Amino acid sequence: MIRLAILLSGRGSNFAAIHDAISAGKLEAEIVAVISNRPDAGGIARSLELGYAAHVVDHKAFANRAAHEAEVLRLLRDANPDFVVLAGYMRLLSASFIEAYRNRITNIHPSLLPSFPGVDAQAQAIAHGVKVSGCTVHFVDEGLDAGPIIVQRAVPVLDGDDESSLSARILEQEHGAYVEALQKLSGRRYTIDGRRVLFS
Ligand code: GRF
Repeated sequence: MIRLAILLSGRGSNFAAIHDAISAGKLEAEIVAVISNRPDAGGIARSLELGYAAHVVDHKAFANRAAHEAEVLRLLRDANPDFVVLAGYMRLLSASFIEAYRNRITNIHPSLLPSFPGVDAQAQAIAHGVKVSGCTVHFVDEGLDAGPIIVQRAVPVLDGDDESSLSARILEQEHGAYVEALQKLSGRRYTIDGRRVLFS
């Protein structure tokens, strides 16, 4: 049984998908903390509905990144997670935060990395004219959306797509991809060899 701390900033659909998989007995995990840096995140209401007390750590209330992270790290120390699961968490993490949870922070990004890192990945994919995009669950390192890849899922980009239709198609796959990645991390041994995550 792995212990998960969820960090989010927005609607929280990936968080809800992870919760649903746990409730359905498909993922042997426990959500031990939900933390939002935005007081208005939809994920907070969702969290309360699902029975978790969400912590709001509003980055605007802190003097700088280090002070905000110190508070998040304090909550994480109390919760003692095996993995810190970024689920639409729109803050960059400092090197010392990443070091504190080296190879234990996961993120989901709405493109097939290393294509289209950063914000607006779906719009970047459409503007570039790619025919296939998707999502990537990866460990977080110091690079932007750059860490070792755990799971990817592909979706077609259709001629009629705009950012919103492509985002919706990718999001459907995100939910399954995040659950699959956490299933692998909970059930199997893995090693990280350079950029590769190898499951045995
Ligand atoms: C997803 O598209 C995810 O890939 C990106 O942020 C969005 C979060 O959506 N990192 P939600 O809050 O999980 O619904």
